[in-house]
Amino acid sequence: MKPIAGAAGDVGHLELGMFGPNGTGHSMSKVPERWYPTWENNRDLALAAEAAGLDFHIPFARWKGHGGESNPQGAMLDPIVWAAGILAITKRIKVFTTVHTPFVHPIVMAKHLATMDHIGPGRVGVNIVSGWDREEFEMFGIPLREHDERYEYTKDWLDVMRTLWTADAPGHHRGRFFDLPGLIGEPKPRGKITLMNAGTSSAGRAFAVEHCDLLFNILVSPEACREEVATVKEAARRVGRSIDVYTTACIVCRPTRKEAEDYHDYYSREMADWPATDHLMQQLGMDCQSFSPEFYATFRNRFAAAHGHCSIVGDPGHVAEEIRRIRDTGVRGLTLGFIDFASEFSYFKDEVMPRLVDLRVRRPPG
Ligand SMILES: Cc1cc2nc3c(=O)[nH]c(=O)nc-3n(C[C@H](O)[C@H](O)[C@H](O)COP(=O)(O)O)c2cc1C
Repeated sequence: MKPIAGAAGDVGHLELGMFGPNGTGHSMSKVPERWYPTWENNRDLALAAEAAGLDFHIPFARWKGHGGESNPQGAMLDPIVWAAGILAITKRIKVFTTVHTPFVHPIVMAKHLATMDHIGPGRVGVNIVSGWDREEFEMFGIPLREHDERYEYTKDWLDVMRTLWTADAPGHHRGRFFDLPGLIGEPKPRGKITLMNAGTSSAGRAFAVEHCDLLFNILVSPEACREEVATVKEAARRVGRSIDVYTTACIVCRPTRKEAEDYHDYYSREMADWPATDHLMQQLGMDCQSFSPEFYATFRNRFAAAHGHCSIVGDPGHVAEEIRRIRDTGVRGLTLGFIDFASEFSYFKDEVMPRLVDLRVRRPPG
């Protein structure tokens, strides 16, 4: 795998980046200060992230909100146009887009990605989503395939893109899902496009191991993550490949642990949008195998706080320590989410990032 810009070859350097600022964030909360994804907000955040030395930037791809009172993710900038815009205004940071393979034809997507790689050569990644939300599929008028078949479809979809990026003469792609005569596309990408799969079921993991550079997983606990990283790396080794893992966390960092915990409680309990939370959990429970039934029962609050993802809540020293524990699981990258990306990232940059350097979790900037 081509090393990610800014982190070449470092052992122990945990890559950090934002996840989801093109949407309303990860929480199902009604707090008025929650992030709103205007282009201006996204532009300023991307520039701040790059200036602070973050390694990558990843958008959500969602087409319909979760309902309730606040309709989380109801407003979202298109992740493909967003990524092209962010690439154009930045110079160093790696920029992913996120795509639902059933909603975008692979010829169109291959062209989008090749074009992005001309805007920001060698800085492009794609977070591949095979789909899970039945209501979104209904809105598109596209059937949601049986779970594991989604990844077979995505494999064929990916083969079409790869052919377009490498073939110098028209060819006939004969796959199970695509039968495409005279397949050809120019220009080719200038560099390697990083392929990341978001999906942690057995089928999703197997797809990542066989075809991608990165698996994007959900951090249930550092212990579980360590096991998953080892399993995935071993599975890749067995098929002669190498793969890395990115995982996710939402950050609530305040000068004292009590202030952080109080705020976490406030936005994720007192101000939780429970109808939206329950709707999200019901949607996920129906068609996605990323979480177990016990997980849903235990972690309703975790879905309200951070879409089921892990939250790191505490003072700067505690947050830095927790991030070190995550780095020690062997993951290559950690994505960051905040209730308000702008003000909270600014505090994180000033108070947590220097501690990560002191803890040797990250290289010093520059
Ligand atoms: C870290 C992570 C990020 C994801 N991002 C998105 C996203 O932006 N949009 C989306 O519709 N699904 C997203 N998904 C959902 C997955 O692509 C996938 O459809 C879902 O996890 C079900 O797959 P699985 O049953 O194989 O785990 C994400 C999943 C994970 C684990």
